[in-house]
Amino acid sequence: MDASGIATDCTPVRYERQGRTGIITVNQPPVNALGQAVRAGLLRALALGQADGEADLLVLLAAGRTFMAGADIREFGQAPLVPFLSDVVAALEASPKPVIAVLHGTALGGGLEVALGCHFRVALPGTRLGLPEVKLGLLPGAGGTQRLPRLVGPAKALEMIVSGDPVTAAAALDIGLVDWLAAEPDPLAAGLAFAKRVRAKGLMPRRTGARGDRIAAVSPLLFSAARDDLARKSPHLFAPHRCVDAVEAACTLPLAEGLKRERELFLACMNSPQRAGLIHSFFAERAVAKVPGLAADATPRPVHRVGVIGAGTMGGGIAMCFANAHIPTVLLDTTQEALDRGLATIRRNYQASVAKGRLRQEEADARLTLIRPSLAYDDLADADLVVEAVFESMDLKKQIFTRLDQVCRPGAILATNTSTLDVDAIAAVTSRPQDVAGLHFFSPANVMRLLEVVRGRETAPDVLATAMDVARRIGKVGVAVGVCYGFVGNRMLHQRAREATALVDEGAAPDQVDRVLTDFGFPMGPFAMGDLAGLDVGWRIREERRKAGDPDTPPPGWLDRLAEQGRYGQKTGAGIYRYEAGSRTPLPDPVTADLIARDRAAKGITPRAVTNQEILERCLYVMVNEAAKILEEGVAARALDVDMIWVHGYGFPPWRGGPLFWADQVGLGTILGTITKFHQASGAKQWQPSPLLERLVRDGHGFASLN
Ligand code: CAA
Repeated sequence: MDASGIATDCTPVRYERQGRTGIITVNQPPVNALGQAVRAGLLRALALGQADGEADLLVLLAAGRTFMAGADIREFGQAPLVPFLSDVVAALEASPKPVIAVLHGTALGGGLEVALGCHFRVALPGTRLGLPEVKLGLLPGAGGTQRLPRLVGPAKALEMIVSGDPVTAAAALDIGLVDWLAAEPDPLAAGLAFAKRVRAKGLMPRRTGARGDRIAAVSPLLFSAARDDLARKSPHLFAPHRCVDAVEAACTLPLAEGLKRERELFLACMNSPQRAGLIHSFFAERAVAKVPGLAADATPRPVHRVGVIGAGTMGGGIAMCFANAHIPTVLLDTTQEALDRGLATIRRNYQASVAKGRLRQEEADARLTLIRPSLAYDDLADADLVVEAVFESMDLKKQIFTRLDQVCRPGAILATNTSTLDVDAIAAVTSRPQDVAGLHFFSPANVMRLLEVVRGRETAPDVLATAMDVARRIGKVGVAVGVCYGFVGNRMLHQRAREATALVDEGAAPDQVDRVLTDFGFPMGPFAMGDLAGLDVGWRIREERRKAGDPDTPPPGWLDRLAEQGRYGQKTGAGIYRYEAGSRTPLPDPVTADLIARDRAAKGITPRAVTNQEILERCLYVMVNEAAKILEEGVAARALDVDMIWVHGYGFPPWRGGPLFWADQVGLGTILGTITKFHQASGAKQWQPSPLLERLVRDGHGFASLN
């Protein structure tokens, strides 16, 4: 620092001077979130800058890995603390001395709004700029919806604010969001370099709020088209619609009134239950990565090379996950034909991404070359991790693990993608059960974000740590679970499926059940999902179980009859629903209705009118009860683990936060009361209230107390 510089101690924001440039530095790790201390510090530092007679210009930057990544989300839902962010932005904009914001890392949400209040914006290479508030159920509430359209035009502003997706620094320059792309890798050097230019050109403060050229004479059609689009794509969501209202206000009202309107809309979002659900999802998604009780010294083992066994749909998708993360992968199967088929599917998937403009051809080619097909187990000798993804046969899996134990190097991790089988029994055939775990991917594996990481009885802590780390590297939400039939996700799904089928037996129509769940926010209901996954899968499993004399598997019913007729779902053009050629839209089918009617008659059931409320309660409360049993058994460690499994693997609406966050909102007393009523009426095992649920209600606690 210049010897004449003023250094203040108002951490986490410092003011100091270099030559004639006043420098305001925010230093609030890890992401410089704009909590109360930062906001107050910014106002103090700005006042010092104004009062500093030696400074003719101010540079605002942030220390560490990123510019300000937004408001401090932890403060949401509490009484607002002064100064408000909008006051900070207004003070920056009003500064008589030019203020330059230097952006690096991510300038998001409130961080970008602060930058919009500054008079010039400089971005370092690699910076991402965006207003992601909508993803938290909010809208930019510190003038972002009013200033961004004034700077980049309403169409681009709408796109950024309604999608919440960030833009690159280069794109930001193109649309006029930033003024200069710095070559300097250091924010301070970039700020000082740009300050020189401002001085050389004699530039004065340029106030975004005062601009009117980009928002003059905007067609109302822009907003009606945006509303139509939202009504089609996101009918359930609250915040995106309010975003459109706010940007429209920017184009129709003077700044002060537009800001007032933005405030009202922001508060409506802040008070909406969707905001609470989405923020729970935000923090829960990060919390699942930290496994309770996993020692801090459980260092992940290095994973540079991977093997995948089985080139079918699942194995191929898993191999793609590793190739996408640039990890060389051997894909093993027993016949050349199976390998060729598997690789052809992978190639087709990559080409589809290229055709949609999501992937460059060179990148697709590079990923494909990372997947090496093989017929020889010896090719797995130097793999650090092997994932077995063959069909669900315990005998076959045992054979494979015995072979892996012989060929894999000591310390290699052996994982199974089983969705139902006992990971401990598989581990027991090896001489190294401590190196065995489950990695349960969801189909399509290259798309679905959930990865259940199954910790066996003997799985070593560093093996679990490695699996969680691998999940992060391949872009998955890894959730640690214990061993039981179906683990967490499928075990709960199984309960829901049984209730859904029983509701139809009693009188509901499949499309009524599906509609109740899609109205709730699921992308599809259980029956449309059955048609998508293939009815033959469940049918074969039930047949096997009946042959084995399983008392829990009911005798064949209408679902089995459909499969017997070769109606497997979408892939055969008909299942529970019928599908018109080339369409995936499920249409109710009289053939199914007839089978259901005959099945009811055979069982002596007189159909009754089933209410939507009963459908919702039976399909969802049964999952809540099962989840409570899962928590009690320790198969899931926290309620938030269950929530993230359902949000990322089964389409539970993220704005409801997950099944257990949602259950807390409904009230556990209400849920337990209904569960008890169903249990009294049916005597069924699945409705036996979970003792944990009973205890929570007795103690007046929610599932949140288990996080
Ligand atoms: N407030 C509080 N904490 C935050 C935060 C925020 N805005 N953003 C991130 N964090 C926390 C995370 O919870 C995490 O904490 P732990 O280490 O305790 O788990 C830590 O910072 C690091 O975050 P990530 O693990 O996500 O780190 P990353 O490097 O993978 O990602 C990021 C960094 C891109 C900034 C990502 O954290 C992110 O997207 N953050 C949210 C950005 C956002 O939504 N901003 C808008 C906020 S709303 C707003 O600004 C409203 C308004 O208009 C006034």
